[in-house]
Amino acid sequence: MYRTHTCGQLRITDTGTTVTLAGWVQRTRKMGGMTFVDLRDRYGITQLVFNEEQNAELCDEANKLGREYVIQVTGTVNERYNKNKNLPTGDIEIIVDKLNILNSSDTPPFTIEDNSDGGDDLRMKYRYLDLRRQCVRQNLELRHRMCIEVRNYLSNLGFLEIETPILIGSTPEGARDFVVPSRMNPGQFYALPQSPQTLKQLLMVAGIDRYFQIAKCFRDEDLRADRQPEFTQIDCEMSFVNQEDIIQTFEGMAKHLFKSLRGIELNEPFLRLPWADAMRRFGSDKPDMRFGMEFIELKSETENFFADKAGFAVFDDAKYVGGIVAEGCAVYTRKQIDQLTDFVKRPQVGAKGLVYARVQEDGSVKSSVDKFYTPEQLIAMKEKMQAKPGDLILILSGEDAMKTRKQLCELRLEMGERLGLRDKNKFALLWVTEFPMFEWSDEEQRLMAMHHPFTHPMEEDIPMLDTNPAAVRADAYDMVCNGVEVGGGSIRIHDPKLQAKMFEILGFTPEKAQEQFGFLMNAFKFGAPPHGGLAYGLDRWVSLFAGLDSIRDCIAFPKNNSGRDIMLDAPSAIDQKQLDELDLIIKEN
Ligand code: AMO
Repeated sequence: MYRTHTCGQLRITDTGTTVTLAGWVQRTRKMGGMTFVDLRDRYGITQLVFNEEQNAELCDEANKLGREYVIQVTGTVNERYNKNKNLPTGDIEIIVDKLNILNSSDTPPFTIEDNSDGGDDLRMKYRYLDLRRQCVRQNLELRHRMCIEVRNYLSNLGFLEIETPILIGSTPEGARDFVVPSRMNPGQFYALPQSPQTLKQLLMVAGIDRYFQIAKCFRDEDLRADRQPEFTQIDCEMSFVNQEDIIQTFEGMAKHLFKSLRGIELNEPFLRLPWADAMRRFGSDKPDMRFGMEFIELKSETENFFADKAGFAVFDDAKYVGGIVAEGCAVYTRKQIDQLTDFVKRPQVGAKGLVYARVQEDGSVKSSVDKFYTPEQLIAMKEKMQAKPGDLILILSGEDAMKTRKQLCELRLEMGERLGLRDKNKFALLWVTEFPMFEWSDEEQRLMAMHHPFTHPMEEDIPMLDTNPAAVRADAYDMVCNGVEVGGGSIRIHDPKLQAKMFEILGFTPEKAQEQFGFLMNAFKFGAPPHGGLAYGLDRWVSLFAGLDSIRDCIAFPKNNSGRDIMLDAPSAIDQKQLDELDLIIKEN
């Protein structure tokens, strides 16, 4: 036996027992005639003691141990004189009488501690060392527990876990495909699934009724903190359901995960917010509802507060003017307001400028537009904005209402951050519903499916497919938590005629639709049941539960922002022989 116990197991009640442990040397300390070694494994840290007086030779050996050496020790559990309250094993130590070095180690390139001195790139290059750190490993443990809870929950509801292939054809989810050349079919390519969407729909045609899969998905898109090119979905599909059935099932699962993994009881039904309201009130289809600071419109499709031309062209000429109220921020200095102005003018936000108004203690208003408006007008504006003395009103305006709302959303999030309203231990969940069916793509100069082309329109909007497709709403829903889209899905089209119409609106010729999705359209001719589903982003759930800033931290071997695996040095060139076999020619630059 390599070990009788793990390094996280022994307690005061084990005092006097002879034990054998194995693990890594976290650190060694020499104090007088004693050498202390912290021995680490996945389960914890145990202090080892070597006493020069009792066994000089053994102590000598211990003094030669380097960081990350792998050792095995046998000794007796002893009550510690100086107890360490921060460690579960902190009441005991092992008086070692046998030391066996199982493996030596080069000095690790960074310290294997929660507060490591290693930079991001270095830790990614040596990810297997990074994973030895407790704070990183804990995220993988949480991920494991989440998968187990998901499997149990869905299995209890009759869902079958079914694997679908990775080497398939294109699945349109709005990103570019990763493709794999086929040696046996020269000049032809597989596409890796952006999601198992079409396959899970085929499983419904197959009568599986309730399917789920913890599925790898691949999307060639620009990366962000919550996006990886290779990520994992909890992918689900159900037959004979409507939107309400799906929302009930998966809201139930979300509540179960919160309770079992975070001990948080969410008793109330989640808020449901139609997409148009979310955009109008928060400028986002994934609003962070941990705090208010809702938009108040001064000028929009339905509002015009500044009816008279005041000579302030920025507002007079705008299609949209709207603002937020930052409570208690009237004390902001000129410098702080300049910082906010710089923030909204950054290319990522794209506003032209920021109008501000401080509400003074006496209720009067001091603003950056004082010279254009009378004090009475400004007071009326303050009242419209529902601002109190001490508050700061921040206003953006622009030509395009949607664009300006998105800019105001960035400002709202920034203010939420500055005011400490985005607490990682607080969770605000909601469903966003009634998404538009289509969105216009400037790049492609055509309507694109906002969710995917298999999404059913809302029943009452179907007649508008012929007359005003841009106004059609989808029977689709996203789950949002703390401003992150954690899942999304829809009721699917199961009528081949409606599906053909959808492809037509999306600009597919019947031949192209048949070529790309013939397998699905043909299957639908054989009695497709009404069905719908949803996919949760597993990585996003884990990172929310763990309070992480990036989903990378809950993925064992993630890619960096350029889509590279620094540890494996992938992607990389392949040799000529392999290229020849695949019938591929690399273009010379
Ligand atoms: P969607 O494209 O909305 O829907 O994806 C579902 C969920 O997957 C997560 N997600 C990602 N996570 C990490 N990195 C990415 N690059 C990434 N892209 C998406 C998000 C998102 O909510 N087939 C449909 C689902 C359905 O209709 O049933 C789909 O894939 O949390």
